[in-house]
Amino acid sequence: MSCTRFAPAASLRGSLRPPSDKSISHRAALIAAMGEGETHIGLYLDAADTHSTLAAVEGLGARVERLKGSPAGGLLIQGVGLRGARAATIDVGNAGTLLRLLPGWLAGQDGGSWTLDGDESIRRRPVDRIAVPLRQMGADLSAREDRLPPLGIQGAELHGIEYELPVASAQVKSCLLFAGLLAEGETRVVEPLPSRDHTERMLAAAGASIERDGKTVVVRPAERLEPGSFVVPADISSAAFFVVAAVLVAGSDVILRQVGVNPTRTGLLTILERMGVKIEREEEMEGGSGAIADLRIRSAPLQATEVGGAEIPLAIDELPLVALAACFAEGTTVIRDAEELRRKESDRIETVTAALRALGGVVHPTADGMVIEGTGGLVGGTIESQGDHRIAMLGAVAGVASREGVEVVGMDAAAVSYPGFERDLCSLQVG
Ligand code: S3P
Repeated sequence: MSCTRFAPAASLRGSLRPPSDKSISHRAALIAAMGEGETHIGLYLDAADTHSTLAAVEGLGARVERLKGSPAGGLLIQGVGLRGARAATIDVGNAGTLLRLLPGWLAGQDGGSWTLDGDESIRRRPVDRIAVPLRQMGADLSAREDRLPPLGIQGAELHGIEYELPVASAQVKSCLLFAGLLAEGETRVVEPLPSRDHTERMLAAAGASIERDGKTVVVRPAERLEPGSFVVPADISSAAFFVVAAVLVAGSDVILRQVGVNPTRTGLLTILERMGVKIEREEEMEGGSGAIADLRIRSAPLQATEVGGAEIPLAIDELPLVALAACFAEGTTVIRDAEELRRKESDRIETVTAALRALGGVVHPTADGMVIEGTGGLVGGTIESQGDHRIAMLGAVAGVASREGVEVVGMDAAAVSYPGFERDLCSLQVG
């Protein structure tokens, strides 16, 4: 296991484009595979999770050509069509999004048979959240203890349903929208709170009949999809590590380029602004999956805040960073309504609490979040990533912002979403 030490930084300065968006890359490859003809994908994320998705679509019969030249990340995918996936055993690796989205497409292909499995962490990620509504649509599924991978799928004839999500989840919503493309009649997915809407936007761009009616997303069966092309913006969830690092390390001034700022993803920015940070958006423009902008962040003193309700799905993957920032704030920060954190790549209420406590933070876990007492900073020490990419990168950011530095055991986990993370963090350091 790799151990990496992150020393305190004098300041962070400069600009970079963080890696491409993981959520959008997964969707681009899957929708391209469902499509007719060739789809061009620009700036596809080159990381372990999205490699799993390319291997999956190849296993299902799609042809993937990796284009040489610049910019990197160009792909041509020859789709198999909505009903043309061949039988396969799919290794989703560590990718929860692939595990939850792909069954939606496969379940309605009558006559086919598939098994999805993955690494040790995937085997702890629940699939009943998709199995329950898919079965209501007529799907034939089997899972270990009826709720964990491996997940077996026998293609069947599906019919549309109206399904109210018990918890806001873009993964479950997307799974049902894919299933709705192959089902008879309309499929209606009711969200308790808005979650990332990339699937809706990208399916509409590929020609699907899909619309939002208040809290409900309605999709109708499709004969064919013709995506044509997708371009993937930089991932705000990866940019988030540098946003928080720049806020915490005094004297920093950092620009993060071409970041997707779709409002269903920018919860962290709103939370930090409430805590006292000014985030400037430059060069803002519309992209296919939502707006794109350059973000300019300077260090700032922080005030504690309360985070809960509708803000949670908009910042779900960035809540560990909110907890880190809260250690540096004045006052006590409360994160609530975030029980879903317990079902990510690790139980992030436990892993974040353990990591921050090991560095001198005062953090109290609760059933659905954390209470963090701001102490003006962190001393430093050693943390373990527990195989979770976001915990590894959290440790690195804590290190550059700490008084004595942080050693991260298992830093290699970062490659799930951000293989060049350490190099990029180094490139911003002055002194
Ligand atoms: C994702 C949705 C979120 C998020 C995950 C990616 C997606 O999960 O945490 O990292 O791409 O749809 P949930 O849908 O379980 O909230």
